[in-house]
Amino acid sequence: MSVTKNDRAAWLQGPTAECSAVGQPQGQSWRLVLLGAPGVGKGTQADLLHQRLGACHLSTGDVFRAAAGRTDCKPSPAMLAALGYMRRGELVPDDTVWEMVRERSACLRCRGGFLLDGFPRTLGQAEALRLHMEVEGISLSAVVNYELPLDEIVERLSGRRVCEKCKAVFHATRQRPHVDGICDHCAGRLYQREDDRAEAVKVRMEVYERSTAPLIEFYREYDLLLPVPATGKPDEICARTLAALVARTDRKVASLA
Ligand code: AP5
Repeated sequence: MSVTKNDRAAWLQGPTAECSAVGQPQGQSWRLVLLGAPGVGKGTQADLLHQRLGACHLSTGDVFRAAAGRTDCKPSPAMLAALGYMRRGELVPDDTVWEMVRERSACLRCRGGFLLDGFPRTLGQAEALRLHMEVEGISLSAVVNYELPLDEIVERLSGRRVCEKCKAVFHATRQRPHVDGICDHCAGRLYQREDDRAEAVKVRMEVYERSTAPLIEFYREYDLLLPVPATGKPDEICARTLAALVARTDRKVASLA
């Protein structure tokens, strides 16, 4: 896949869409899951890591939002139901999510690697991904778990602004665009996500604790978990993530020697 910023075309459009170019892995091919509470900064880090590692940013939330914005075809009943769950801040049922990921499985096999953002987020999804990757003969490099205090997370979510065209993410006070309300990359309009309203954020945090936090233990048991503090500036967090990935790889190599 292309390493152009925010080129997520095939993943967003579905199984029949073709990537504009197959990415060349810069060194190792990384297959990462980015874990962490809503608003911790997974999408922001995925964009930065994509630039550094070449792996594609695959966000299940992006796919649902793209489906909501499409005017060229009618959404399926399952997709309509999914959008209702999303608006309320609840999780989309596992079957719908897995169907959507499975039909894009070429992205998981891509030799450029991937950065999964927002998937898996239940034990059922994690197990489905594990079995699928086993059948495909591929494995995860690591699961990065971003950690941040709740008050900081709420501040990040309430100020988030997203480009309606290229999906780039900004913050009303901390990562301001050069021109208010306009995307720096493509001049698209910036908007506030519906599920960033206070009522939906509360539901999302409860759902995270109940359904997604157990994945931390799941991946620890598979020796894939890599905790990374998500405090500081995006570039600092990205550098911390890269350093943790390198240290983990060195440890693995040393343990084989
Ligand atoms: P999804 O889109 O995955 O949302 P999320 O996990 O709730 O995560 P967010 O996108 O809200 O936050 P983020 O961690 O990416 O933070 P960001 O980088 O934007 O899912 C949305 C919904 O879709 C779900 O609720 C569910 O309904 C459905 N869904 C999706 N996947 C599903 C699945 N697998 N199963 C079931 N349902 C599913 O950053 C946040 C803000 O902070 C931004 O404004 C950013 O500019 C700012 N910021 C980032 N880093 C920093 C920093 N270091 N310092 C200051 N500000 C920062």
